[in-house]
Amino acid sequence: MRSFSAKTPLAEAFPAIENCHRGVTVIHAVAIATSPHSPARAAPTPTMASFTLAASAAQFAGAKLDSRRAPAPRAQGRRAVTVCAGPKRVMIAGAPASGKGTQCELIVEKYGLVHISAGDLLRAAVKEGTPAGLEAKEYMDRGDLVPDSCVVTMVVDALDTPAAKEKGWLLDGYPRSASQADAIAKEGIEPDTFLLLDVPDDKLVERVVGRRLDPETGKIYHMTFSPPPADIVDRLTQRSDDTEEKAMNRLKVHHSNVDAVVGKYADKMKNIDGDRAKTEVFAEICGIIDEM
Ligand code: AP5
Repeated sequence: MRSFSAKTPLAEAFPAIENCHRGVTVIHAVAIATSPHSPARAAPTPTMASFTLAASAAQFAGAKLDSRRAPAPRAQGRRAVTVCAGPKRVMIAGAPASGKGTQCELIVEKYGLVHISAGDLLRAAVKEGTPAGLEAKEYMDRGDLVPDSCVVTMVVDALDTPAAKEKGWLLDGYPRSASQADAIAKEGIEPDTFLLLDVPDDKLVERVVGRRLDPETGKIYHMTFSPPPADIVDRLTQRSDDTEEKAMNRLKVHHSNVDAVVGKYADKMKNIDGDRAKTEVFAEICGIIDEM
């Protein structure tokens, strides 16, 4: 047993905060309140004078009550408060050009989550000419979903990094089918929240064809809605699948798969009107993340 004063910073009292995707769980701890004037069985109060950390339980405590991953440990006669504020795990989904990447930039800046974009991982694999990239290319060129055999391992590996576990993650564009959702569920990977950006189809094609990317900073622009500074225009690039024809197919593919994915996360889903200024969309997302 280790004792900490009430003034001990949480980070010091619970140094081994670790997120785990593989079903083992975040490390939980039991903070059992004891009063200096009463026996250890005293009921916990918010003004507790000291904590006794049941370190042997090897579990973690943080700011919020949470029983997502593991049952509350038994406290052998004492009332235990299981508190958890593990790293945040966010999924963001939506049609092509619904604003996932744009919102991810803002979320990463504010919350420091590790951004894992399935599309970016695939484009990097195509560029590097890996076997998965070579296989994915023809599907991406058409705007079709690439086979699970290409994308699932990439995403699972990206989530299985110390940074993603410690800082939390923001998974963008994955899963896009029921089988992809099942594949990560088998690895114990579950989000805390599933954000679905909703934008009418007629707006999406215009967003796709006007999109430009800055290869130096990775920033996303739109020639009308989010114009780039004049001095970088010449270096901007356009994605090869950002044509009207390919956008129409990507949209069709999205509509034929989205319900199956939403069905997997119905209890965690937040539908967000993405047809507003990006700052308004972001404000709503912040409200959701802040409450997690
Ligand atoms: P991916 O790269 O994920 O493309 P996508 O899903 O089609 O989404 P986009 O990146 O096009 O759009 P976005 O929602 O990020 O919008 P953005 O913020 O850039 O996937 C590409 C391909 O890879 C797929 O087609 C598939 O082949 C393959 N793939 C990927 N994941 C896969 C998976 N899991 N399984 C199988 N295959 C997979 O915004 C778009 C534009 O709109 C920008 O110009 C932006 O400035 C502008 N904009 C953003 N927000 C607003 C706003 N609020 N108002 C006005 N304009 C805005």
